[in-house]
Amino acid sequence: MFDGSLMRLLGIETSCDETAAAVVDAARGGLLVRANVVLSQIPLHAATGGVVPEVAAREHCVHIAPVVQRALRQAHATPRSISALAVTAGPGLMTSLTVGVEAARTLAYLWKKPLIPVNHIEGHVAGALLQNPAVRYPALALVVSGGHTELLLMAQEGWYRCIGRTLDDAAGEAFDKVAKLLRLPYPGGPAIAELAERGKTDAYTLPRPMLDRTHFDFSFAGIKTAALYLVQGIPGRARRRIRRADLAASFQQAVIDVLVGKTIRAARQYGAKSVMLAGGVAANGELRTQLQAAVEQALPHTKYFQPALAYCTDNAAMIAARGAQLFALKKHWPWQRVHADPNWEMW
Ligand code: KG4
Ligand code: ZN
Repeated sequence: MFDGSLMRLLGIETSCDETAAAVVDAARGGLLVRANVVLSQIPLHAATGGVVPEVAAREHCVHIAPVVQRALRQAHATPRSISALAVTAGPGLMTSLTVGVEAARTLAYLWKKPLIPVNHIEGHVAGALLQNPAVRYPALALVVSGGHTELLLMAQEGWYRCIGRTLDDAAGEAFDKVAKLLRLPYPGGPAIAELAERGKTDAYTLPRPMLDRTHFDFSFAGIKTAALYLVQGIPGRARRRIRRADLAASFQQAVIDVLVGKTIRAARQYGAKSVMLAGGVAANGELRTQLQAAVEQALPHTKYFQPALAYCTDNAAMIAARGAQLFALKKHWPWQRVHADPNWEMW
């Protein structure tokens, strides 16, 4: 995809509660992350049990310039050496997106550089390939984050078709909501995963919604409601004491069974030569292990990719990586034409 010349991308990501900037070099040999700075607002949002958009945006305003400066410094990069800027333009929280987009527009104007608006979900997929560029197509990506759960079919690099998505909660959202039920700290995903290590996955019977359907859409609200009834009791019936670690493990396994089952079936149906995992929930150790094992067992001729942990949850290296692909396709714009779009869906 890239010709011999070196492209250097400055990536900026502020779609939710991470202020991030990265410098990525792209050449024929692949992508090299020179700097990947992520300033997480987790401690701030833990106090409210979730992201308050106004608070997140205010924090992005305070930190965006120092974070960009730190990324440039770590990469020993000058503005002159940057070929283009890539910024998350959507989907995400409007107030958060705006901070990153306006910072990128300002720098593009001052430095006279082209600007590339990047779709956040496409960024997650590019993040899965940062260290593993040797994808064979057609490829199937399972994108699981706090806001999205999607199965994307890629006929070739950068060309996506959504073949399944969640009809209600995203996988990460379900983790976060069940964590709240169990009085675990925000964000819920890592907290559930840690607690689940001490629990039994078959201790509670939870549904596997739509696993046996022929389509590839997901639904996680039913698993969450079943967990709610276990914790709060079913109205009119005697309440049982629950073991939190067992519920965490049973819940996590129910979500993984659905994700793995549908991904394997879709990969088989569409003849995928590669399967990749992406998004914040891709940091889940059990999901990583079980999806990899399932692909290796059920589809021995299919390659499996998953991002390093640093490229699972929101970061700007993945945005710069997608920006590099788009830059090579000449999909960049003057700064005046780039705007935040909180509802940007590509498919
Ligand atoms: O991709 P991401 O950083 O932000 C969005 O684009 O939404 O994903 C955040 C989501 C949160 O719901 C968080 O609970 C979940 O990813 N998450 C995990 C783990 N680490 C983060 N879920 C399960 N297990 C984990 N280890
Ligand atoms: Zn994300």
